[in-house]
Amino acid sequence: MAKRQNPPRILLTPGPVTTSARVKQSMLEDLGTWDRDYLALTEHGRHCLLALAASLEAPYTAVLFAGSGPSAGESVISRLPPGQLAVFANGTHGERMADIGRIHKIPATLVRQRDSQPVEVGMVRDALAPEPGIRYVGLVHGETTTGLLNPLHELAQAAKHEDRIVLVDAVSSFGGYPLPVGDWGIDVLMTATNKCLQGVPELGIVVAEKFMRSAEGQGRPLSLRLHNQWRTMNDRGGKWRYTSPTQSVQALKAAFLRATIATAPIKRRCRRRCAA
Ligand SMILES: Cc1ncc(COP(=O)(O)O)c(C=O)c1O
Repeated sequence: MAKRQNPPRILLTPGPVTTSARVKQSMLEDLGTWDRDYLALTEHGRHCLLALAASLEAPYTAVLFAGSGPSAGESVISRLPPGQLAVFANGTHGERMADIGRIHKIPATLVRQRDSQPVEVGMVRDALAPEPGIRYVGLVHGETTTGLLNPLHELAQAAKHEDRIVLVDAVSSFGGYPLPVGDWGIDVLMTATNKCLQGVPELGIVVAEKFMRSAEGQGRPLSLRLHNQWRTMNDRGGKWRYTSPTQSVQALKAAFLRATIATAPIKRRCRRRCAA
């Protein structure tokens, strides 16, 4: 008797989410980390991510890491040049941002909102105005653990008004909501491929501008050195420092070309880039 197969699962979890058949099929080809085709694929992914962040014309750049969302966060926070970090949190992911800071010996303050409320602009103003030593402001866009979408644009503007550097965890929202980094005053955006981008897990993403340069330096952790990763990818046409998640990068391209995340102009741009 033929074995009855279980119906396919539809994942509506915080992540990873269900991916399309095309995204799955895109991973069937074996590619090497140093193959020329693969480097082009990495460059394609970086380009499309910038298109999605509405920052192709601004001096932003995108860097990929092997690892889930926290790998992107850790690559940024572990390399912060001296200064205090204030994280405005209404759930676990915000708390984790502050924890990463403390683990890396960065003076980190947690400004905690109730789990039932979005972070308010007044909280940012009140915390920053008397504390010029706070150089970095950590924000979470969609706080998955409490189901709250924070008013990121307004919060980032309040921090920029006080001339601080804005770091944003957009793991659960990037690709699902407009997030024009330059217009909103976001200096560093940290995200991953396994949620609204509708790719597969194990690709952490950092979109940033000048910050990439200021993150230069030695220190820990070796594999998450943001500046080194950026320099290698940028200067060597999509090269990775270590063996990379080739299937996840293949899936990212398929997700960009097929999925509903991207608007028509972004899809066209990504297609043009593929043909180039
Ligand atoms: C807002 C937010 N930040 C960070 C993470 C962690 O990222 P990952 O799922 O890639 O481990 C999640 C996961 O649900 C998240 O929702």
